[in-house]
Amino acid sequence: MSDQQEIYAAFPNVPQAPPDSIFQLTARYVADKHPNKINLGVGAYRTDEGKPWVLPTVKKASRQLEENPDIDHEYLPITGLPQFTKAAQGLIFGKQNKAVDEGRVISVQTLSGTGANHLAALFFAKFYEFPTDKKEIYISNPTWANHNAIISNVGVTPVSYRYYNKETIALDFDGYLEDLQKAPERSVILVHGCAHNPTGVDPTAEQWDKILDVFLQKKHYAFFDSAYQGFATGDLDRDAGSMRKFAEKRVPMLVCQSFAKNAGLYNERVGALHVVAADIKEAERVKSQLSVLQRSEISNPPAYGAHIVSMILTNPELFESWKNDITTMSGRIIEMRDALFDLLNDKLKTPPPPGRKDWGHIKEQIGMFSFTGLNPDQTKKLVEEHSVYLTGNGRISMAGLNTHNVETFAKAVDEVVRSTSGTVPGSAL
Ligand SMILES: Cc1ncc(COP(=O)(O)O)c(C=O)c1O
Repeated sequence: MSDQQEIYAAFPNVPQAPPDSIFQLTARYVADKHPNKINLGVGAYRTDEGKPWVLPTVKKASRQLEENPDIDHEYLPITGLPQFTKAAQGLIFGKQNKAVDEGRVISVQTLSGTGANHLAALFFAKFYEFPTDKKEIYISNPTWANHNAIISNVGVTPVSYRYYNKETIALDFDGYLEDLQKAPERSVILVHGCAHNPTGVDPTAEQWDKILDVFLQKKHYAFFDSAYQGFATGDLDRDAGSMRKFAEKRVPMLVCQSFAKNAGLYNERVGALHVVAADIKEAERVKSQLSVLQRSEISNPPAYGAHIVSMILTNPELFESWKNDITTMSGRIIEMRDALFDLLNDKLKTPPPPGRKDWGHIKEQIGMFSFTGLNPDQTKKLVEEHSVYLTGNGRISMAGLNTHNVETFAKAVDEVVRSTSGTVPGSAL
């Protein structure tokens, strides 16, 4: 055989995929030499100094873990660390929950929230009796961009329901309810537990009640994504309110849970999938099949982050300390909302987006993100002319703002709004 054997391309027709927009934005930010550059793209908490934050409680738990002689590097069970999944379940469903008490909730440790969404979507693709011959999961318009990809990857079609009104920069509640009504009975509807990404627009408690009524009436399946428990109001119980109410009213449901944001454990990939079944027998069958899927996908999940979170959730002292950390994060974000509103609305008197009388939406929105209402032309100018990095849909991560840069950001917004106003129609999508 010749040394000069020709190499045949095995994938000559694989098209080049576009880079992930958020990761690309971060790379552009890192490469930018501007001294006052601002990164509002990635959804990760930053301190007032603009630095990543290792939660003090996580540090404490980590030290304790290191000193624990019983910790080894053996494989975890396929469905994860039992003390983690049990405690994580308690965090979502509360101390006293009928579904949990009746043994109808099963939990599997996953690769953070993304892994939970994937495992859930895969389970639906394989086992759900969809109402029509089309396999469809309904997602809000807009939603976290990865929902589309995760659902499509398992051969299910994502279908949008109305959620956000770009004219009012608020919930399109009538459109939302109408689309839930129009969907065939027993449709699978993906809903954000709290702190909707990307809009920061959540239903009120009364609106949740009406949404719940439609789920019951239409026998829809609630596919909850809970990536921001604690980040919306600062209160872990309040932020789980929608999911607890749905479970109490016996809506068939599951919850995809992430500890990336509320425990700052982004790269440790700590999460869980909780499925609320109709009875113990169904719960056991579902868990057995999830184990089979998990085995072929990741075999078993990683242990470090799960140990940290289970220690925090089960040790009262660490739990209290974690709640303080969450208040610190959510409180700083709320302060930034107030500061940005005051600057744009009162100090600079920046013209608000078309359809709004003022910049009040910045304060009305909740959680990590804000949909500013800036249009694609304005966001482009912010990136190119002011080194302010945000996504093209006008979403900003509030955690990227701090007392040192909020004024610079507000002035940049003021400049681009005034220089483009009247030339480009307002669009937040
Ligand atoms: C709505 C939503 N769901 C799920 C996730 C999953 O995050 P992770 O996989 O890091 O837990 C995110 C992260 O940004 C999110 O915004």
